This record gives sequence, structure tokens and C-alpha cells, in this order.
Amino acid sequence: MENYFDTNKKLWNDKVPVHLGSELYMLEEFLKGSSSLCPVVTQQLGDIKGKSILHLQCHFGQDSLSMARMGAKVTGVDFSEEAIKKAKDLNEQLNLDATFVEANVLELEKQLEGQFDIVFTSFGTIVWLPDLNKWANIINRFLKPGGQFIFVEFHPTINSLDWDTGSFDYNYFNSGEPYHETVNGTYADMDSDLKGEEYFWQHSFGEIFNALLGQGLSLQSFEEYPFSSYDVFGEMKKIDNWKYVYAKMQASFPHMFSMKMKKFS
Ligand SMILES: C[S@@+](CC[C@H](N)C(=O)[O-])C[C@H]1O[C@@H](n2cnc3c(N)ncnc32)[C@H](O)[C@@H]1O
Repeated sequence: MENYFDTNKKLWNDKVPVHLGSELYMLEEFLKGSSSLCPVVTQQLGDIKGKSILHLQCHFGQDSLSMARMGAKVTGVDFSEEAIKKAKDLNEQLNLDATFVEANVLELEKQLEGQFDIVFTSFGTIVWLPDLNKWANIINRFLKPGGQFIFVEFHPTINSLDWDTGSFDYNYFNSGEPYHETVNGTYADMDSDLKGEEYFWQHSFGEIFNALLGQGLSLQSFEEYPFSSYDVFGEMKKIDNWKYVYAKMQASFPHMFSMKMKKFS
């Protein structure tokens, strides 16, 4: 398992400088005060003023810091040291009070204590994790009784597509074994000369729900969206601000989902 994580971590470290300069992440706008959160996430979060939030897989911290700007007390976690270094720099530069922790999300209890009002994670997260039971256990461990898990993610169906051909070439269900691919470019800049390799896992809705419900969390809301907030699946058509659809698919097709779960005790 270490080898999978080491390989992925190297690629994520290498992605950081490319993402910082990419159009997708709009860093300049963010530094001037724009929020990096898409409308679906903002709506799911609601009023977070004064809430403590644990943000899992926070990348270089833009979304964590956007939540800090909304008045939340945010702790961001990521295993990429380059991402966490940049997140800490941005926090200081913007004079915010977020905390950033470098850790593998599946081993977070070794590096962090406490419990939070909200555990949040979004867009491109669980595909990097082999074990959702452990992931759900971490979420439950770090939620206060009465706390909420808020999850906004790309839909497992779109993850089953080969984005170049538009055919369903990836398993919908987790086989237990990771996919292993070589990578050229990144979703934020397909023309960059970034090269590397990655391991990823497919996760069906059954697996996601069973892992979270198995921890005793209760489902409060679940939505599917016929668009993506980000232009990241190859050939996409913009239909509105923050709304892109996969151009090769004519029929209405799920691109993202959101869910909220509550920990009652
Ligand atoms: C696509 S980004 C997260 C999305 C975030 N909303 C963004 O784009 O700003 C995925 C993040 O997960 C992190 N990551 C991947 N595997 C991880 C693991 N096992 N533990 C902690 N972080 C991990 C990567 O370093 C990367 O920053």
C-alpha cells in the first residue's frame, strides 16, 4: 500500500506548481478576494460562521481558506508536503487563521486530535483511497456528536467513462485492485509537460453509502447533478457559469453528487 501512496504523493507534489499557475484554480482572483468554492458547495455548506471544519484532502488550501473567509475555523489536511507548504504560505499571506496538517487521510488519527462541527471533502478525493471503511471511520472519529459530514464529489458514473472515447471502459465497482496509469498533463492544464504515474480506485455508491452508514452516520440529503462545476473531463461544453457538460454525451447524465450525513451521538 505504501508504494501506491508514495507514487500518488509524488505526482500530487509535482502538480502543485502547475496548478498554482493554471486558469482552473484562478489563484490571482482568489488572492484578490474571490471565493474558490463553487455554488453547489456554498449551498451545501450553508452558514458556516463560527463552525469548526475539518477539510480532508485540501490540496493547496484555496477551498479551506475560502471557508476561513466565511468565518469558519478550518483545519485542512493533505498528504502532499508541497500542497501543505503552499496552503500555510497562503494562510499567512492572507492573514487568515486556518491550520494545515500534512497527513495521509487514512492515518489522520496519528497526527490530529479533537472533533469538529463539520467534516468536509470535495472533488477528486476518494478515487485516491483504497479503503472507504477506514475513510468513513476517520470521518466519524473526527465529527462531534451532532456534527455533519458534507461531501461533494464527481459521480461514480463519470469516473467509469474513458473521457477521450466516451465509452464506459472503467469498472463501476471497486475490484479491490487499483488502476495504474501513466499521466501526461493534469486536469487543470492538459498542455503542461507534467509526467508521472498514479494509482486510483473506483468506488460505487453502494460502497460509499455502506461505509458511511456502517459508522452509524445518518443520511440527511443526497443530490445528483447533470453538470460539473469544473471543466475537467476533456471535451466539455459550458452551459452556464460553473456548469459544464460532457460534450460526447447527448442524454442527461450525472456528473457530480452531494451528500450530507449527521452524527447523532
Ligand atoms: C483533486 S485534489 C482535492 C480537491 C480539491 N477540492 C482541489 O482541487 O483543490 C486531491 C487531493 O488529495 C490529496 N490526496 C490524495 N491521496 C491522499 C491521501 N491518501 N491522504 C491525504 N491526501 C491525499 C492530494 O494530495 C490532492 O491534494
